[in-house]
Amino acid sequence: MGEAAPPAGMTGIVQSDIDLDVVRSILQRFQPRDHQEAQELILGALQEVNEHFGYVSLEAAEVVAEHLGTTATRVYALLTFYADFRTEPRGKHFMLLCHGMSCFVGGSQRLVQELKDRWGIEDGETTADGELTVQVVNGCLGVCDRAPYCVLDGHSVGELTVESLNETLQRVIAAGGSWKDGHHG
Ligand code: FES
Repeated sequence: MGEAAPPAGMTGIVQSDIDLDVVRSILQRFQPRDHQEAQELILGALQEVNEHFGYVSLEAAEVVAEHLGTTATRVYALLTFYADFRTEPRGKHFMLLCHGMSCFVGGSQRLVQELKDRWGIEDGETTADGELTVQVVNGCLGVCDRAPYCVLDGHSVGELTVESLNETLQRVIAAGGSWKDGHHG
């Protein structure tokens, strides 16, 4: 463990099912020539870890800090400052829900509300049963002709209504780990 305690907002952080050897191999691509360059690489390294695992655990953050010769405190600060980083694992299923202009006009606010009312989750949160994590994207996901639109487990789902959102989520969760055929999209 590093020398610093995590800030208050990160005390609930999960103590890693992230394979730290994988983190170390990701970090091999980040070889700063000096301290200044190391500082500049911290964000990029965290982004790669976040992308690979879907989040950055406390332990992974410490490995990054060690590799780039900085303090764990500084890395925690970056993780908590930037909304793009997750510090907890995603649920079994992951949905990017578009909340860009076309989707908003098409009713994405109702979908956001439904996720809150029925599924108990808001942006960045995971259902209590660990099945579903949602990330609400305020920029356009680039498929406006299918608005309101989301990407669920990497698959496009468009023309969403509250009913089709619920139905799709129920089906995907009931199907277990993998997305089944038979969807539009
Ligand atoms: S605004 Fe949602 S896909 Fe473009």
